[in-house]
Amino acid sequence: MAAFFVTDARREGKPFLFVVAIIAALGGFLFGYDTGVISGALLYISGDLHASTFEQEAIVGALLIGAAVGAVIAGYLADAISRRWTKVLSGTVYTLAALGCAFSQNPDQLIAARFALGLSVGTASFVSPMYLAELSPKRIRGGLVSFNQLMIVTGILAAYIVNFGLKGIGADNWRWMLGLGAVPGVMLAVGMTFMPYSPRWLVERGREDDARKVLRRTHQEQDVDDEVESIKKVAAETGSIRDLLGGSVRPMLIVGLGLAIFQQIVGINTIIYYAPTILSFTGSSASSAIGQTVVIGVTNLVFTVVAILLLDRLGRRAFLITGTAGLTIALVVLGAFFASGTLQANASGLALIALVVYIASFAMGLGPVFWLMISEIFPLEIRGSAMAVCTIANWTFNFIISFTFLTLTSTIGKAATFWLYAVIGVIAIVFFYRRVPETSGRSLEDIQRDVTESSGRNRRSHGRLRSA
Ligand code: BGC
Repeated sequence: MAAFFVTDARREGKPFLFVVAIIAALGGFLFGYDTGVISGALLYISGDLHASTFEQEAIVGALLIGAAVGAVIAGYLADAISRRWTKVLSGTVYTLAALGCAFSQNPDQLIAARFALGLSVGTASFVSPMYLAELSPKRIRGGLVSFNQLMIVTGILAAYIVNFGLKGIGADNWRWMLGLGAVPGVMLAVGMTFMPYSPRWLVERGREDDARKVLRRTHQEQDVDDEVESIKKVAAETGSIRDLLGGSVRPMLIVGLGLAIFQQIVGINTIIYYAPTILSFTGSSASSAIGQTVVIGVTNLVFTVVAILLLDRLGRRAFLITGTAGLTIALVVLGAFFASGTLQANASGLALIALVVYIASFAMGLGPVFWLMISEIFPLEIRGSAMAVCTIANWTFNFIISFTFLTLTSTIGKAATFWLYAVIGVIAIVFFYRRVPETSGRSLEDIQRDVTESSGRNRRSHGRLRSA
């Protein structure tokens, strides 16, 4: 099945790159599996381990906090020990932590294991797109990096299906739900030991000949001198962590952070984590709510595939802006549904339709485009730290939104909660329209040059960033 999805790499006659993409994107699968598995598992954990409400929240939240910390560590590790070995480490920690979850005897042990799992998920969430972007030829970079997002949503769907399949097997079922994550963890750790180093990381270490060998294999071309020269030129311009706050990078950091934060504060994970709860608000029974949740998982997957196939052809901005507009409309409808007794009585299917439109729009826009763009817009010398900062912001806001959702719905009401997210959606569209540049079909080095020039113009004119 995966063969179908990385069609571009195959069509371009790059079978090696295709294999690398599948193994590397297992990091995304781990990320998604955990996102999707916990809501179902929690139903059984609470009874089996006698977890209080606070402990249940801590079991969910420990992963998100661990992921933010993991992204901090990963920024350093990706530069120090390479993207490749960071991913081996991430797969190893994930495997051990998944087993730790499965064998936990009390809530404290489970919270500790979930934190360790978070360290690995946070690391993988940022090293995977970075590694893929650095290995891809520019023509198919969008599809290949977004393959990571496809694996995230595949992981979410796999978790929904596992939860569904294991719900009847007895009290220990949650141990299997969480422990099964060890399988892709081992695949990532072992698989990555056979994968190449990122050519950009090699050039930074002065290992140009090794970088050439990798590029010849991934790009399937003998003449890779231009590519190496271009990487070298950018690598020669030394950067420090202080440059992250410097004038030339600041505009891109604002774009990256804007994408990171908006991706979460339009409420995506309230839908992912609480879809069954939202659907049960509409009067669905628990079992039909779980079935409808699978519909949402499938929609997420299908529209992510559509985005992957089109992102390099139609550009990132178009998807970002129209996708965010689509999800904003869906939020308005969802709010209206909860505000109107008539709609609830006469159009009970409307909430599910709105959720499906929401998830499809997210899957075609903010979902893949955030992870893709943060791997494209930053100069090489600060790419690791800049992507880490954006990833940390993304996990932190994931935590904040997930933990305020139920409180919000019970204080300001369901309708006002969704309308609040809709207002944020409108602000996001304006931000994307004004600030986010087009990156498709351009080399990472060209984008960097453009960003530097734009920021120079910005400083002079206080104008907005050029939207090429
Ligand atoms: C987001 C996750 C989200 C997932 C849903 C990802 O891009 O970062 O927070 O759960 O998409 O598909």
